[in-house]
Amino acid sequence: MEIIVSGMRPTGRLHLGHLHGALTNWLRLQEQYQCYFFVADWHALTTDYATPQGIKESTLEMVTDWLSIGLDPAKSVLFRQSRIKEHAELHLLYSMITPVPWLERNPTYKEQMKEMVGKDLSTYGFLGYPVLQAADITIYKANKVPVGVDQAPHVELTREIVRRFNQIYQPIFPEPEVLLTESQKLPGLDGRKMSKSYGNAVFLSDSPQEIDQKLSRMMTDPARVRRNDPGEPEKCPAFQLHKIYCTTDEIATVSKGCRTAGIGCLECKKIMIKHVVDDLAPFREKRAQYQNKPGEVEEVLAAGNESAQKIAAATMAEVRETLGL
Ligand code: TRP
Ligand code: SF4
Repeated sequence: MEIIVSGMRPTGRLHLGHLHGALTNWLRLQEQYQCYFFVADWHALTTDYATPQGIKESTLEMVTDWLSIGLDPAKSVLFRQSRIKEHAELHLLYSMITPVPWLERNPTYKEQMKEMVGKDLSTYGFLGYPVLQAADITIYKANKVPVGVDQAPHVELTREIVRRFNQIYQPIFPEPEVLLTESQKLPGLDGRKMSKSYGNAVFLSDSPQEIDQKLSRMMTDPARVRRNDPGEPEKCPAFQLHKIYCTTDEIATVSKGCRTAGIGCLECKKIMIKHVVDDLAPFREKRAQYQNKPGEVEEVLAAGNESAQKIAAATMAEVRETLGL
């Protein structure tokens, strides 16, 4: 079976953007591939090295969401990066063969350096972010890496590092392919990309009341100032959610109502909200169960760590042998 590896930095509770970005994709993949999904907590430190306090809790919150949405430890290996020291060892060896200019010209690196003002990111670890990612991916000999388009350059770098390794030493690693996650860039409540840091997110674990309150306030087509101003659904952030959640008939009705001012925005959004709330009902139920059994998520992670570690150790034995270490 082909091997899939992907990671997520521990951001705590997940939101609808994560669900329609990575998570639904992961759920599909776990049925067809041997998947390794992990919490990239070392990667979190590359930017948040000054505030490590939240990492443990964010990890548990995030993995609770993974399990509640249906990632299944019987199918996928779910683990925590920092527990598998072999990633660090392979990262070290890759750092020997990775030319610094490859890292400096990485578009994601350049962008983040510019964007994250107020944080000193001129560190060795941050520059080496993709080298660590290359180790994460190849230590399980991944064939495919599902990521969003922003992460594609990192996987491309992984391929370059692998080619270099295979050429200098022995061809022991497959070149992993990017499996682009079709990102339906989900808008948040204010119309910008949904993101925890923007404060515009609907979390999977929000209560039905919270979901209703938040989405009732979600931004709509700004042209509809008054009830009888007609609107255009395609200019309405809330309508992106209709497109995901509503039936074809509902979408048609709502679109017509919007364009003819035959429906008010709140009434329109309520139709979508009901689906969002209902769709998350099984999630809420499962999450409540995990919350009643503290320690269970840690146990799942511990078992996943153990499985991952076995594979990683075998790969590292091969690598050491190859280098005569
Ligand atoms: N850099 C990824 C992100 O921020 C997380 C990540 C770390 C990852 N290692 C990985 C993703 C390996 C895929 C494969 O989203
Ligand atoms: Fe958006 Fe619906 Fe209002 Fe139109 S009627 S602007 S689709 S919320």
